[in-house]
Amino acid sequence: MTDRDFFGSEAPNARNVAATVLVRVWEEAAYASLALDAELDRHPGLDRRDAALATELVYGVLRTAASLERSIGKHATGDRYRRKPFVRAHMLIAAYSIAFLERVPPFAAVSEAVSAIKSEAGTQVAGFANAVLRKVAGDVPARGTAPLAGSPAESAARMRLARAIADSPPAWLRKALAESLGSGDAAEAFLLADPIPAANLCLRSGRSREEWLVTLREAVPLAEVCAGSLSERCIIVRGAGDPERLPGAGRDWTVQEEGAQLIAMVVGAQPGDHVLDACAGRGGKTMLLAELVSPDGAVDAADRHPNKLARIVSPTVRDRFPIDWSVGSGGLERTYARVLVDAPCTGTGTLRRRPEIAERLGAADPERMAVVQLGIAARVASHLEPGGRMIYAVCSVLRAECEGVVDALAAYGLERCPFDTELGARLAEGGTSFRLLPHVHGTDGYFVASLRKV
Ligand SMILES: C[S@@+](CC[C@H](N)C(=O)[O-])C[C@H]1O[C@@H](n2cnc3c(N)ncnc32)[C@H](O)[C@@H]1O
Repeated sequence: MTDRDFFGSEAPNARNVAATVLVRVWEEAAYASLALDAELDRHPGLDRRDAALATELVYGVLRTAASLERSIGKHATGDRYRRKPFVRAHMLIAAYSIAFLERVPPFAAVSEAVSAIKSEAGTQVAGFANAVLRKVAGDVPARGTAPLAGSPAESAARMRLARAIADSPPAWLRKALAESLGSGDAAEAFLLADPIPAANLCLRSGRSREEWLVTLREAVPLAEVCAGSLSERCIIVRGAGDPERLPGAGRDWTVQEEGAQLIAMVVGAQPGDHVLDACAGRGGKTMLLAELVSPDGAVDAADRHPNKLARIVSPTVRDRFPIDWSVGSGGLERTYARVLVDAPCTGTGTLRRRPEIAERLGAADPERMAVVQLGIAARVASHLEPGGRMIYAVCSVLRAECEGVVDALAAYGLERCPFDTELGARLAEGGTSFRLLPHVHGTDGYFVASLRKV
């Protein structure tokens, strides 16, 4: 967490909170969602409207960055402003406000950016920002007052924003999404899915969802609290702030995205089973697997990072294996009837929550990750009993990391087979794999496949 923020003599407001978050995303490779939560926590005095505007600015700028840069680039010679992250942040925030925030008059967006840039970078840079942003404002159709909801002006503004979001990811990524998600406008619908997902809670075994819906609604009457539509353990909470402050946190439920819950569930682990979670990380899915095999089963957790494994605390997690599967099997000798390979990936399925990924990834990354994924899954396959089942999952939706890896696993004695849980069979419509998609299921994007050791 940086001590640096860019408020100068200004009180915290939506723009400078958003600028601080954007700079952390670019300079420290921070996740936008975490950096935003941290910034909003640091400024509890920010009113709800300002917090909502900061959120819109962060996600809006990250999702439309390339389009905003193009509109600025038409009037700025060179890209020197991009080398000063704070200047870049305020330029993009202003360009976004000018183009898409009908309620902010363009002259106000320009003058607020210019005064913030002046106090941080001096008069000369502020003069440059002023000249460029005025021209950017001149390119946008003149508008009067904010258009009424549902009016033609409002739908034109929405269309402009949708176009900018759909056109902003690099061309290779848009092409890979189109090839992976099928014909029509699926790739565009994927990119346009709700960018600010709600908190998802996963109830522990034995808790009644009906009762917890009531408890949580009473605790946060102004928030929206509803049942998840796919996972029977899931409760979705919108507008309640930090979910860890709600009753039952950590004891009766944990925060876990609904799609992640589904992946652990379709492993098909039953009470008494002994399963392997081969890429357990900090144990998000391990903990749900532990619930499913309780009371007398066990989960073994492996990951290349022992410090992640050390954070998994559950009496049902029997052994922790620090293993780099690309190199070998560490000290693991036994075989399993069921394993989960929740493989590292490009994370493209999480683009709505992490729009910054689009800028960080390169065209070669999906193939590079596919090599890693294949290496991991092939080695884990040697720890499957004959007839044993592997659930392979990634939070990517790109074909190379999905079907590409699963098809290549045939050479390692793994064949596709139908899911053996009612949930998996339903999601896969009787097939051997499925994608979860934000615009279809409301979850992050994932690919999940069921494989059997021949
Ligand atoms: C998608 S994350 C797993 C998330 C975790 N299952 C959860 O639900 O929280 C992928 C994990 O694979 C681990 N990993 C990456 N490369 C690996 C390798 N070669 N061998 C073992 N683990 C690896 C990473 O450390 C990371 O924790």
